[in-house]
Amino acid sequence: MKRQNSAARAMPLHDLHPEPDDLHAEVVAGLRARQKTLPCKYLYDARGSKLFDQICELDEYYPTRTEVGILSDRATEIADAIGPEALVIELGSGSSTKTHRLLRALRSPVGYVPVDISREHLTEAADRIATRFPDLPVWPVCADFNAEIDLPEHGIDGGRRLIFFPGSTIGNFDEHARRALLRRMRDLCEGGPGRLLIGIDLIKDVDVLESAYDDRAGVTAAFNLNLLHRLNRELDSNFEPDHFEHRARFDSDASRIEMHLVSQVDQTVEIDGESFAFESGEVICTEHSYKFTIDGFAKVAAEAGWSLERSWTDAEDLFAILLFVLN
Ligand code: AVJ
Repeated sequence: MKRQNSAARAMPLHDLHPEPDDLHAEVVAGLRARQKTLPCKYLYDARGSKLFDQICELDEYYPTRTEVGILSDRATEIADAIGPEALVIELGSGSSTKTHRLLRALRSPVGYVPVDISREHLTEAADRIATRFPDLPVWPVCADFNAEIDLPEHGIDGGRRLIFFPGSTIGNFDEHARRALLRRMRDLCEGGPGRLLIGIDLIKDVDVLESAYDDRAGVTAAFNLNLLHRLNRELDSNFEPDHFEHRARFDSDASRIEMHLVSQVDQTVEIDGESFAFESGEVICTEHSYKFTIDGFAKVAAEAGWSLERSWTDAEDLFAILLFVLN
């Protein structure tokens, strides 16, 4: 029979049935705390994800374009350092856009395992990769990479495992969670000759950092404030987004951008009958985005068993892609 359609399919989804998020519980827990916080993962509803895509196109927001530039310009070097027959495991693969560049450069990769919590994104992205690379087995795994991940037993036992974690997503994890994640990545390599290819944002001029998170067009402000609109849509809450203001500051001691929503007045917000008081000037912390030196990050990774093998940066040292190997 002749094939009618050139669209290839990924292997059936390996579903670890990640716990669905409990938005209400996490939001009230965060707002009951002395330092009020909201989890940054909730920034990405449909509207938030669109705004984030717009952020990536902004002049001020250098990370995405710089990382993609390094991946493209140094693809051959990166592929040579990784070597042939890699099994690429991507955590939080989303739309897998950066992966195309990596897979194209690698020599005879043996498989691609995208891991994501969103079934929909995962299936679409996996089928897209399978169509683009018809000889490459694609094994999508629906899982929360903040929990234990059991990879499917069949099919993916060959190859040298390469964990791919681009986007400086590691920067959104506080110290404790960062350590735990780096250890989980090690465990995913099961003691084999595992490697980790990870993107980190580098420490730089404070104005450059703060502009990247507080752009002139106000897209990042809209992205941050959308969180309150989202809560009003999905919870029984009455936030007045106009009474909060976006703020992004670099804390050089903690080496992180802190994204805040600052209450402009004394106000009370009700969430499912529970009242939360905000004083004028009080902040809700919505995101930490850590910035590193290559040496500093290598030290943290070393505690989880990873040795730095190679690193690549852009001409301005804005961003780095690091390759680690298990020792
Ligand atoms: C790509 C998710 C790591 O911290 O730079 C962008 C998210 N927040 N602008 C980052 C983000 C505000 C971003 N991450």
